[in-house]
Formats: sequence, structure tokens, C-alpha cells
Amino acid sequence: MQYDDNVLAIRAAVARFEVEQGVDVNVLFTQLLLQHITDGCSLVDIGTGNGFVLSQVLQQSDKQFQLFGVDNSQSMASIARKNLVGNATIVEADASELPFDNCSFDIVSARNVTQIDVVEIYRILKEGGVFVFREYGCGKGMLEIADLFRGRIIRQRDPDYYVERLLDAGFHIVKFDQYEIKRKYRSAQELVSIVKSYPFVVGFSSQDEKLILEKFAQNATITSDPFILVTTKPKGCA
Ligand SMILES: C[S@@+](CC[C@H](N)C(=O)[O-])C[C@H]1O[C@@H](n2cnc3c(N)ncnc32)[C@H](O)[C@@H]1O
Repeated sequence: MQYDDNVLAIRAAVARFEVEQGVDVNVLFTQLLLQHITDGCSLVDIGTGNGFVLSQVLQQSDKQFQLFGVDNSQSMASIARKNLVGNATIVEADASELPFDNCSFDIVSARNVTQIDVVEIYRILKEGGVFVFREYGCGKGMLEIADLFRGRIIRQRDPDYYVERLLDAGFHIVKFDQYEIKRKYRSAQELVSIVKSYPFVVGFSSQDEKLILEKFAQNATITSDPFILVTTKPKGCA
């Protein structure tokens, strides 16, 4: 499934609410990237979407660096280009075939992208380079919804899935933290909009919509299950 104009239109229409959230994993993710950024370094963000991660880094760092973003959706790549004009190079390409030389980046980031290719990431990282990854666990960021539509969730992956592949590719795991965060949405209707804007339920129908409206009519509290992995490509590995 690609992020086409249809999905973009739904996402643009959805309001975001940060409610009853103990830990801000987005802030943590950016902080982890900032810790590794030094003058002259290069960073590429895989599945960059609208370029959010790159924008955060730009806003919060006073270092001089080279920023790149990759996305396989033409629509998203063009939004990222507009958002980051003059500050980053945005390339339309698939994560499984990155148009970069071996050992060319100090840092690779990926946030909320299930289709990473760890072998490709390893290939483009310099020795000693860092890969910072944030994704959701089996709950896809909405545990109760994933439970409700069990068997119909797209690319439902346990964090171990990634850990195993990263280790097999040769990475060292530096940090792995998983979180459970309760979010109270304003209404069940809002929940429906969010589920539609992250189309992770196969064949989501008006019947499914009704089910969510009924089940969460009284309390639209949902558990998010993000995790962050920090890994390095060891030195002396080439
Ligand atoms: C949920 S969005 C996350 C966007 C951004 N990383 C963020 O955190 O705001 C996932 C993005 O990954 C892109 N994507 C999905 N699969 C991809 C692939 N195989 N190669 C490159 N980009 C991909 C999508 O087009 C989309 O823009």
C-alpha cells in the first residue's frame, strides 16, 4: 500500500491530540538523533513522509550537516521537498534499493516505517555509524483496535522481528526501549478518523466503523505501543 493522494487527504483532515501521555516518544527520538549529530556529518531519514524528522533536527541543532530524505511515495516526497526546500535533499526511492554509495552516512533514521531494509541501511552506513529506529509493536500504536480486528492488521510485527534482522545484518543493539502510553481520544468518531488515516486494518468498512463507534462510545482510551531501537554498525567490520 502506498501513501497516495487519497490517504494524504484523510490524514490532512484528522486533528491530532496528545492527551494523557506520560512520555513523549517523538521528543526522545529527536533527542537521540541530536546526540549523534556532529559538525560535518550526514544523515538520511528513510520513509521521511512530510520530512517531519528532518525538520525537527534542523530546528533543534546548531550543527552543520547534510540531510537527506527518502520516500517511495511521489506525493510524500514532493511535500517533504516543499517543507525542507534548501535544507535537505529528498529522493524518491524504495527503502529496499537506496540510491546511495556504500558507507556514505553517519546516521540513518526511520520513524514509523515498517518496511525498512536493514541490509540496505547497514550498507549505506559508515563504520561506527548509527541507525535510530522508532516503530510501533504488534498493536500498531492502537492496541485495542489491533485486538478488535485481529487477523486483519497489515504488517503486524513484534519488535523482536526487527531486533533479529538487525543482529543478523551485523548491527550492535545499543538501546531498545518499548513504551505503553494511554491516549484518550475526544470521541469514538475521532478514533474512527485516526484508524482511517493510518490504514492498517485490511478492508476497513462502514461495518467496522460502526463497531468502533459502539465499543468506544463511553471511553475512547487507547494504548499506544511505540518502541525505539538504537543500533550501530561496528567499526572494523568492512
Ligand atoms: C507513517 S509514515 C511516517 C513518515 C515519517 N517518517 C514520520 O515519522 O512522520 C511512513 C512513510 O514511509 C513511506 N514508505 C513506506 N514504505 C516505504 C518504502 N518501502 N520505501 C520508502 N518509503 C516508504 C511512506 O510513503 C510514508 O511516507
